[in-house]
Amino acid sequence: MLRTLAKCNNVEDLRLLAKQRLPGPIFHYIDGAADDETTYRRNTLSYGTCDLVPNVLAGVEEIDMSVTVMGQKLAMPLFCSPTALQRLFHHDGERAVARAAEKFGTMFGVSALGTVKLREIGEMISTPKLFQFYFHKDRGLNNAMVERAKEANFNALALTVDTITGGNRERDLLTGFTSPPRLTLKSLASFAAHPSWAMNYFLRDKFELAELKDYVEQGSNVAVSIGDYFGSMLDQSMNWNDAENLREQWDGPFCLKGIMSVDDARKAVAIGADAIMVSNHGGRQLDGSRSPFDQISEIADAVGDQIDIICDGGIRRGTHVLKAIAAGAKACSGGRMYLYALAAAGQPGVEKALNNMKIEIERDMKLMGVTKLSQLKSSMLRFR
Ligand code: LAC
Repeated sequence: MLRTLAKCNNVEDLRLLAKQRLPGPIFHYIDGAADDETTYRRNTLSYGTCDLVPNVLAGVEEIDMSVTVMGQKLAMPLFCSPTALQRLFHHDGERAVARAAEKFGTMFGVSALGTVKLREIGEMISTPKLFQFYFHKDRGLNNAMVERAKEANFNALALTVDTITGGNRERDLLTGFTSPPRLTLKSLASFAAHPSWAMNYFLRDKFELAELKDYVEQGSNVAVSIGDYFGSMLDQSMNWNDAENLREQWDGPFCLKGIMSVDDARKAVAIGADAIMVSNHGGRQLDGSRSPFDQISEIADAVGDQIDIICDGGIRRGTHVLKAIAAGAKACSGGRMYLYALAAAGQPGVEKALNNMKIEIERDMKLMGVTKLSQLKSSMLRFR
């Protein structure tokens, strides 16, 4: 069957289109996760452990799905999580995702391992922007990144706390995936089999890690695996004092990305964080860890009135967003849910992905008998 963007009705359809378009190693870098990928699968399966209990006759002709997180008003309760290396997946990379997110009035997270400069994105869109910070050993680089995010008018900063060392990405070991891609006979053969991707990659702007290239060769010019990058460049001594210092240095809405336990959620409140992204990095780091959705209720019971809780991971359907919000999340975010779409078709692809989710959220809210997200309550969920 010929797969076209117009016929992609869900994340899985977009995933299959991305698989057709991308050289194998690049597709598997996005699609893969750590060890046996049990956590990656679980992230989505966990939404199936409970059912929604709708109310009816609620007068649902007008739906308001807007939400405020980290002080930013979003037109929909799902935003684009920061993800690395986007120009490798599609030549427009972050430019495509930024414009699509702006059209849907939602937040765009830009990774420190991004491939377009923060300044350019800041000039390009006026909707909320989140900068995802990795704590490097090089303090000069850390300070420069914070300054550039401020200068580019980013609204919020997220410190990633779940990549203290590289996850065991066995698909990448098998395919030999590195950033930038290493040119071997095998990789050249897979590029040749995907000529339109290869033409764009080799003939358009040179691939680079826009915010890092002046500080590090690794990942920009020297091909390394993402695991090796995390292991050698990031500072494994990072602790709560460093997080608190960064919180003060940034002096704006601040989030910790990768919090999973109630204890850590309480510490996030104690250092004055505005939000936590409950996340296991898409199952790409610690395999066997709980899914974000499974942790939402207990974290919300403990700190839900003191900090914005974002459920990051496994979202494939509008009902997943509704379940996470009913369990106590303020909003949701996702990476692969728009990355497949970026790889499949650039900006129109990301727009299709966000539109599919928006339509589902609206339909599902109506079918649940709610007109505002605040009407979603844990009593509307039954766990089996
Ligand atoms: C990854 C990083 C780079 O998961 O976010 O590959």
